[in-house]
Amino acid sequence: MTKKVLVLPGDGIGPEIVQATVAVLERMDALFGLGLEMEEGLIGGAATDATGDPYPEETRRLAHEADAVLLGAVGGPKWESLPKPQRPEAGLLAIRKDLALFANLRPARIFPELADASTLKREVIEGVDLIVVRELVSGIYFGEPRGIVEEHGERKGINTLVYREHEIARIARVAFETARKRRRDVVSVDKANVLEATELWREVVSRVHADYPDVRLRHMYVDNAAMQLVRDPKQFDVIVTTNMFGDILSDEAAMLTGSIGMLPSASLGERHALYEPVHGSAPDIAGRGIANPMATMLSAAMMLRFSLGAPEAADALERAVEAVLAAGVRTPDLGGNAGTMEVARAVITKLEEEAQ
Ligand code: IPM
Ligand code: MG
Repeated sequence: MTKKVLVLPGDGIGPEIVQATVAVLERMDALFGLGLEMEEGLIGGAATDATGDPYPEETRRLAHEADAVLLGAVGGPKWESLPKPQRPEAGLLAIRKDLALFANLRPARIFPELADASTLKREVIEGVDLIVVRELVSGIYFGEPRGIVEEHGERKGINTLVYREHEIARIARVAFETARKRRRDVVSVDKANVLEATELWREVVSRVHADYPDVRLRHMYVDNAAMQLVRDPKQFDVIVTTNMFGDILSDEAAMLTGSIGMLPSASLGERHALYEPVHGSAPDIAGRGIANPMATMLSAAMMLRFSLGAPEAADALERAVEAVLAAGVRTPDLGGNAGTMEVARAVITKLEEEAQ
């Protein structure tokens, strides 16, 4: 059986980290008999340059046909002054919405080899293993009305935070189900003391929790959660939260691990799934062959596990990345001097060794 993967390199370091990951996947295809069929498409600034649209029709068609989408990163200074619908970020938001990828899973785990790379003390971060479950297709990112309008001789910027009950209930279920495969502990993050939309969030999460009596649930205000994440991150197993709070807290969680270059993510819907590193397109280092491809490789491992029915291959890839890290083959963001493709070659060698 073939598995169709749509590969969307995007902008900045996107093409480099995706190239490295595709090289690993091609080798794995042979080693594990995965039956991969990879096709490439355009998204972000690269798509705007070629077609005027950051999420072109052709990409939309391929995405709907694919078993999974693997994305690099989008964005860069080149496109920042374009009208909003043509900007790279609009392409990313459009594909999330179009594929109804409502659940964004962002695991943050400390690699023992990197404990000293964090800006936090070793004893604070050692053993951290948490996952942010971020709602991805609603909330203030998509709420109406929105825009910049003229009023009383000045401009007014508007965004609206909206959550419907079903949108809260379905992300809460993902969080509780995820917790059942982990340490059975969920912290729901909101601002229920100020924002009605998240007052409803808290109520619906509690209601859904009644179906998961074996999972512990705590509610936490977002300001406190931001503080607790750096004070005592080990207290967290699963964090479930809104689109914007999840955007912010997942960057914070990423930095606990020392480098945002290590964090993978999965965006899941009922029918589709997209995998991408948490980090951005890093235009400052693009094209130099020094970008860290590990977050993309770990995203590919999540793809093998969740979308391609290949959990052994997923485990093997994660082990290979960790072994390469331990062997000191690291890009400059991790204090090493290896290049992007050098990391890919080292990962491939580990996989080949293990397959023997
Ligand atoms: C992320 C990014 C995006 C977001 C941007 C690029 C639109 O920061 O995936 O976290 O805000 O969701
Ligand atoms: Mg973000």
